[in-house]
Amino acid sequence: MRSEHSSTTSVSAVPRRTLRSLCYEAVRGVYSLLTHRVTDPLSRQRIRLCGVVWGYWPVLRMRRLDLRRRFQLLRRFLRIDWNVVHGHSPSEIAQIALAIDRQSDGRPRQFVEAGCWQGGSSAKFSILCRLYGYRLHIYDSFEGVGDLTPADRAKEWDYEGQYAAPEATLLGNLDQYGERSVVSTHRGWFSETLARGNAPAEISMAYIDCDVAKGTRDALAGVVPALSPDGIVFSQDFHIGPARALLTNAATWSTFGVRQVEVKQLGRRLAMVRCDRGLSRSPEIPRHQPPYRSPERRDGQERMK
Ligand SMILES: C[S@@+](CC[C@H](N)C(=O)[O-])C[C@H]1O[C@@H](n2cnc3c(N)ncnc32)[C@H](O)[C@@H]1O
Repeated sequence: MRSEHSSTTSVSAVPRRTLRSLCYEAVRGVYSLLTHRVTDPLSRQRIRLCGVVWGYWPVLRMRRLDLRRRFQLLRRFLRIDWNVVHGHSPSEIAQIALAIDRQSDGRPRQFVEAGCWQGGSSAKFSILCRLYGYRLHIYDSFEGVGDLTPADRAKEWDYEGQYAAPEATLLGNLDQYGERSVVSTHRGWFSETLARGNAPAEISMAYIDCDVAKGTRDALAGVVPALSPDGIVFSQDFHIGPARALLTNAATWSTFGVRQVEVKQLGRRLAMVRCDRGLSRSPEIPRHQPPYRSPERRDGQERMK
């Protein structure tokens, strides 16, 4: 018999040898050939972008934005890709953009980003948050990846101290490429911020990208209890064994009082998690809902650059 707090976890993963994974391997092969002499990370990223830019195509399906705004959004995303070294792919950001488009109903909402590095993902999320009326809360140590537990150190790559960037870099990139007015920053280790109850109430969406299971667990400890009924958590670390094991283990979720959880793999590195209360709701927009009007349109200000 199940205990009162036991969880059920359903995991759906993309098949290993899909056409998509073959394309991915092909792009990786061409990318390594083209970049093996290029050492500057931004130049490497620009070369890589040529092969992965198609991953943004879901942005063109964002039904709450008119066509002009979808292209403006795409242009701003590409500007960030061209200028800010970051740790994600167009297809991953596009999946999150689509989820916001489907979840949003014009009410003010909260988006949490745990792990921002130089702010490439943050700048993109801030543009989406500005468009859809979310507030973006960014949590980071600004000292790089946190330490591992001894048990994790035996199992996973030790990223400790990597991806350190000062808060000023994040803020500068938000000013130049994003929408700083919708952002709050929270400096510190997740164990001392999010896990200590320093999370906003009613989180609609969270994006965790910290490269280690311990940091993911600390971030979840703050995010999960504060999730709104239709809340969604994205993990950018599903390719990292211990992080994946953490997310797919029912015991993780029962610790947070979650009875039922759905973990869906959306790509090689990205997974989407919906917890019990969120499971009954469809992410699709109900047909009767009127077309969404963004806050910019309502107050007549044109914010898209
Ligand atoms: C891979 S980078 C994030 C990349 C970023 N999301 C992007 O797409 O460009 C990981 C970030 O998580 C932060 N980080 C890792 N572990 C952390 C922890 N336990 N507490 C706070 N920040 C942490 C690091 O400082 C770093 O900025």
